[in-house]
Amino acid sequence: MKYAIETESLTKKYDDFLAVDALDMKVKNKSIFGFLGPNGAGKTTTIKMLTCLIQPTHGTASVSGYDITKKPDEVRKKIGMVPQLVSLYGDLTARENVSLCADYYGIPKDKQEERIADLMELVDIKYAENKLVKQMSGGQKQKVSVVASLIHKPDVLFLDEPTIGLDPTTKLVLWELIQELNDNGHTIILCSHDMYEVEKLCENIGIMNNGKLVAFDTPQKLKDNLMAKQEEIFVKDYPLMNEMKNNISDITDHQASEVTKNKLDTHIPTTELSMMVDNLSDTIIEKIKDLNFVYGVKQSHNKRISVDIDQFSKDDGINEVIEIIMKNNGNITSITTNDPSLEDVFVDLTAKKKFESIDIEAVK
Ligand SMILES: Nc1ncnc2c1ncn2[C@@H]1O[C@H](COP(=O)(O)OP(=O)(O)OP(=O)(O)O)[C@@H](O)[C@H]1O
Ligand SMILES: [Mg+2]
Repeated sequence: MKYAIETESLTKKYDDFLAVDALDMKVKNKSIFGFLGPNGAGKTTTIKMLTCLIQPTHGTASVSGYDITKKPDEVRKKIGMVPQLVSLYGDLTARENVSLCADYYGIPKDKQEERIADLMELVDIKYAENKLVKQMSGGQKQKVSVVASLIHKPDVLFLDEPTIGLDPTTKLVLWELIQELNDNGHTIILCSHDMYEVEKLCENIGIMNNGKLVAFDTPQKLKDNLMAKQEEIFVKDYPLMNEMKNNISDITDHQASEVTKNKLDTHIPTTELSMMVDNLSDTIIEKIKDLNFVYGVKQSHNKRISVDIDQFSKDDGINEVIEIIMKNNGNITSITTNDPSLEDVFVDLTAKKKFESIDIEAVK
């Protein structure tokens, strides 16, 4: 089986509201897939359909080889689910909750003991196995939920924002567990708003917006695409470099001089300062262009700007650029000195349309 999940025009309407709009998506078997999107994009609704908690309005999907509309019981046996909101019985203990789950999947009592103990040790919740769930902290409940979801060794594990509210150490434990499960052949579907988490763990990423899949690729390719979309709006000559190139022309070996010139062109010593800026205006861009240590300005969409700064003026240069932006009512929301982040890709694909569609007249 090549794909653990294949959706075909998968659609969910809540009355007239289209929450998931004809989704076509394939998730490779034995991979970790990251499912991103702003609040209300339709991720949880998609997961609920794939885990047979709700039925699609149109279309269908296969999960672990079974059709969700025709063979829901087979699908349920193959999957595990850690829901966005923990759904455990508050009046039962952690252990009782997990046992109930094990019974549901028909795991014999004599096998349950060892498996529950192993999983509880793994996520470090064994110490609280006899505590009532309603008396547990959010993170503790989340751990119990993970144990319950893994009890039957599911082929496909759905995790809907599993690390939300977890402390950094517990988060690391869960990341290691996700990785380990994947190494053992489980397919993982991870819904998350934590870009670092997704980038660290996932082979492929799908970004959803308004019920539609707006991007599907590896984290690196998504970032490369954003770079490729950048529009070079200004490149200044580099005087020192030009002078060196002119001197090279005196070299009699023509071929050697061409090679050296090309090398110089690609090695202009600059630092790229990349920022996401709210209220980015022409005034800000013009003022940045006028700085004598700035050799290039690129803009990828209405929020992201990258500025090539002379390497030797880097520290003061970065401060001056920031000062210009702030003095002209720009609001810097992220700043890096290398590649765009996955967060930039997310904002580019999902926020842009919203900004463009704001009707200013209506707001007044
Ligand atoms: N039972 C329901 N009845 C009506 N509308 C619903 C129902 N469940 C979800 N919706 C709507 O469907 C849309 C998608 O919701 P969904 O929970 O799938 O989003 P999400 O991508 O998981 O968001 P989040 O990141 O906030 O968890 C939202 O606009 C939501 O209000
Ligand atoms: Mg959700």
